[in-house]
Amino acid sequence: MNRLLIASLTMFAATHAFADVDAAKAQGIASKNMCFSCHAVDHKVVGPAYHDVGEKYKGDAAAMATLMKKVKGGGSGVWGAVPMPPNPGISDADLKVVLTWVLAGAPKQ
Ligand code: HEC
Repeated sequence: MNRLLIASLTMFAATHAFADVDAAKAQGIASKNMCFSCHAVDHKVVGPAYHDVGEKYKGDAAAMATLMKKVKGGGSGVWGAVPMPPNPGISDADLKVVLTWVLAGAPKQ
């Protein structure tokens, strides 16, 4: 492979992986919806670190749908016995922004 091709493939991979992740917007929405009262990016609070959630579901194509339901309806047993209460107030559009960010490993930027 020539160098130009490698460079453009690397650039494609870099821009593509985080193409629709908006970390600032996601953190604003999570903050407004009180998600950060139980979650942090890089350590466990009441719920798991968002970084760890991203790692757990890496490559899982069904994760977005599963987690949309789980956050809206609440539940327990995946990370421990402590349940997450339902969060019915967050809109699907807002939740998708947050989960896209979480599933990307919750990058700071
Ligand atoms: C009152 C505390 C609390 C609040 C508020 C809360 N969570 Fe959670 N969350 C938890 C707990 C506890 C778990 C672990 C549940 C389990 O083990 O199945 C969890 C798990 C999760 C998971 C992983 C679920 C899984 O099945 O792997 C995601 C994603 C998540 N929360 C996102 C959110 C979002 C987004 C919000 C805000 C809309 C939010 N949480 C608000 C406590 C909370």
